[in-house]
Amino acid sequence: MSVSINNLFEEVKSHYDVVSFISQFVKLKKVGRNYVGLCPFHSEKTPSFTVSPEKQIFKCFGCGASGDVITFYMKLKGIDFKSALIELAERAGIKVEFSQSSVQKKNREILELNFRVAKIYQNFLFNHVQGERARAHLKERGLSEETWQTFFLGYAPPEGRVLAGLLRASKVDMDLALETGLLKKEEDGSFTDLFRDRIIFPIFNERGECIGFGGRALKSDVEPKYLNSPESKVFKKSEVLYGLFHSKDYIRKSRQVYLVEGYFDYLALWERGVRNVVATCGTALTEAHVKKILNFSDDVIVLFDGDKAGRKATVRAIGLFLKENKLPQVVQLPEGEDPDSYVRKISSEPPEEPYEVLIKNTISPLVFCYQYFKEEYRGNLGRVFQDMVDLCRGISDPLLERAICRELAFFFDISESDVRRVLRKETQRTTQDVQGFQDFQTLGFRGGPDEDFLKAICQFLIQNPNYIPKLEAETEIKDYLESLEEGPYFDFLKKLLYFKPTEETQLFAIPDPQFQEILGDLFFSPPFENKEETFEQIKRCISIMKKRRALKKLAEIIRHVEKCGNREEIEKLLFKLRGTLSF
Ligand code: UTP
Ligand code: MN
Repeated sequence: MSVSINNLFEEVKSHYDVVSFISQFVKLKKVGRNYVGLCPFHSEKTPSFTVSPEKQIFKCFGCGASGDVITFYMKLKGIDFKSALIELAERAGIKVEFSQSSVQKKNREILELNFRVAKIYQNFLFNHVQGERARAHLKERGLSEETWQTFFLGYAPPEGRVLAGLLRASKVDMDLALETGLLKKEEDGSFTDLFRDRIIFPIFNERGECIGFGGRALKSDVEPKYLNSPESKVFKKSEVLYGLFHSKDYIRKSRQVYLVEGYFDYLALWERGVRNVVATCGTALTEAHVKKILNFSDDVIVLFDGDKAGRKATVRAIGLFLKENKLPQVVQLPEGEDPDSYVRKISSEPPEEPYEVLIKNTISPLVFCYQYFKEEYRGNLGRVFQDMVDLCRGISDPLLERAICRELAFFFDISESDVRRVLRKETQRTTQDVQGFQDFQTLGFRGGPDEDFLKAICQFLIQNPNYIPKLEAETEIKDYLESLEEGPYFDFLKKLLYFKPTEETQLFAIPDPQFQEILGDLFFSPPFENKEETFEQIKRCISIMKKRRALKKLAEIIRHVEKCGNREEIEKLLFKLRGTLSF
């Protein structure tokens, strides 16, 4: 039987029974009308993966994965729909008629030529005198010949026309060779090599086709240190993950994947038995990378360099995974180490296994971001909060959202619902302005605790330090403060009135750790929209709050005097009280 690719879908679906097919990969048990088992797409201890023979579909109530035989196979193998269809057809003995377009044919030729080139470079590494320095470099880096072999590592000699010459001699179509990006055509019509005196890393896609190359300069003064094949129809840096082809089974088996940023980082881990790894190839992580990784495992461990750039990239990666509703784990390496150097170091100091050491260095991703932003903004918690919220925006998984709100609430000592409110806000700034103002009104007029009111004043004053002298001149703030017990905002406000800073930089120069801590907190408060109006509110509130204090005091005295039963005294006090009330 031979079927055209267009009719393949129906043909494949009708050939397979979902239960017997999935049983080959997942141990299923009959429960009522359905079958259940442990989900192959996420880690679980109790089965929530359900297969319905009636509907011919599966659904996991744990991770939400669902679909038919083809979707199952796609997810399991981490391949696209068309590849899944073709492989399933092959398994079923259905013959597929390919009517390959000329573009597809060309791509296939490029991929085949790439592989040939990989073998040419490999030969230079293994067998040529010229490859000696490359061999020494790889050995020094602790990579075994077996690993060179597995990954088809190679060496491009320095002369500059070696590959071109070899390809021409073996009658390769030079136009095709140009399309691999490995040759350049000079003005005189001759061809030169892209890679010279470099260690070559062939890059394979998840089907094991050679789509491009990375090359590391052997001499330390050569720029750039790494050179990649140019972007093309077959080589898209924003999608490719180095090592995926070799690692995918390990990833699936361990249900976990390490993400690193360099070829050597990948290979060093592989060499020491950490094989569930993938690497990006000289570009920042993209959404496409993330989606591809998550096809294989949703337990991702980000393992980037232990320097500023590495930490920055880690925070970015966390944000990208969060957009897909996944929170990755993070391994924080000591300053100056990268996965390659670190894993070599720990391997030279047994007895601990690399896995164990890496796991020991795992840090909560949100703690990681918090520390990163805190360092970045030198303790300005307002900005830290803003950036963390921005990083976490767009999460649609309610459980994850809740976990994140809880953690952020803890970091910033605010309520979970406040975090959630900000997190869900689309246009944060403008609405927050209004909110801030209303909060203040509420605080002032409903007469919350004095400490809350003081906090509102402090917020206003640090945003508008020029109002500090005005506040002193136009209100009885000092009297009001006299009537209060001490508290953090009480102290803070007193310091403000004492130091009278006139601009932000002076605020940060006030030498008091507690003051600085609160200052950091307050910086996260939204600005008040209309300064003059707010100031008028504050003035009114101070007068009200001051009277409230006075009343409270009077009430206390009256209660006390009542006990002693001095009528005359009580009458006098009540009279005073009436006076206080008339505002
Ligand atoms: P690094 O600069 O961290 O290099 O770049 P590395 O992996 O530690 O390399 P070694 O140990 O010095 O050999 C990390 C990755 O970024 C890409 C490469 O993919 C590299 O593996 N890169 C780096 C480039 O594409 N171009 C460059 O010039 C540098
Ligand atoms: Mn390195």
